[in-house]
Amino acid sequence: MLRCYELQTTLEAVARFCDERRVGDVGSLGFRRSSELARLLPCLEPLVYDGILIPGKTRFLDMGCADGRVNVFLSWLVRRSVGVEMDDWILDDHAELKRELEAELSRRGLPPIPGNIRLFEGDSTDDALHDKIESDTGLRFEDFDLFYTYLTMQEEFAALIARKARSGAVFAVYGLERIQPRLPGFDLLTPVRALNGILALYRKE
Ligand SMILES: C[S@@+](CC[C@H](N)C(=O)[O-])C[C@H]1O[C@@H](n2cnc3c(N)ncnc32)[C@H](O)[C@@H]1O
Repeated sequence: MLRCYELQTTLEAVARFCDERRVGDVGSLGFRRSSELARLLPCLEPLVYDGILIPGKTRFLDMGCADGRVNVFLSWLVRRSVGVEMDDWILDDHAELKRELEAELSRRGLPPIPGNIRLFEGDSTDDALHDKIESDTGLRFEDFDLFYTYLTMQEEFAALIARKARSGAVFAVYGLERIQPRLPGFDLLTPVRALNGILALYRKE
């Protein structure tokens, strides 16, 4: 439970809203499966406690953000919430999700979505896209503190983070429980079981 009551209530509302609209659990869209935000919510307090998520400071990057729901979810906590999505038609869903969520938050008298979210179309591993992110946000790849993926290309993303991110940056992989692969160049911070049985954490050496 996060200490601020309004923040906790807001994030619960966001999780409920987004989780009712999860994509990919059934049918042909498995590759763009959505994180279940209600499962991520209990991970936030330990992340804050361990200094991995520093409210108002952390710069977050979702590599493969789809409709940007994890970016929205974390936007109340982080300084910048950046996402990259390869498919433009998937990224297009962000505007509608955001609009409908804004309406729901307003109806419930909860704070609006912060203006610190920036989503980009492209390949997360593309250096030219990193240059574009830097020119649009002022953030170089090595400025990000917390990287995220939902079991998407985690070995390739890990290699990229190992090569380009700052030492101490954390890579969070959603969708793992007890079997968590070791990633070269990283310390596994959750060796027994992923946080809340879902989020494996790796710190770059
Ligand atoms: C499983 S979904 C996860 C979406 C979101 N992060 C979440 O947790 O709800 C993975 C997304 O990553 C995208 N993707 C896969 N490889 C990518 C890459 N190299 N760069 C950017 N996006 C990628 C896919 O198109 C898909 O929408």
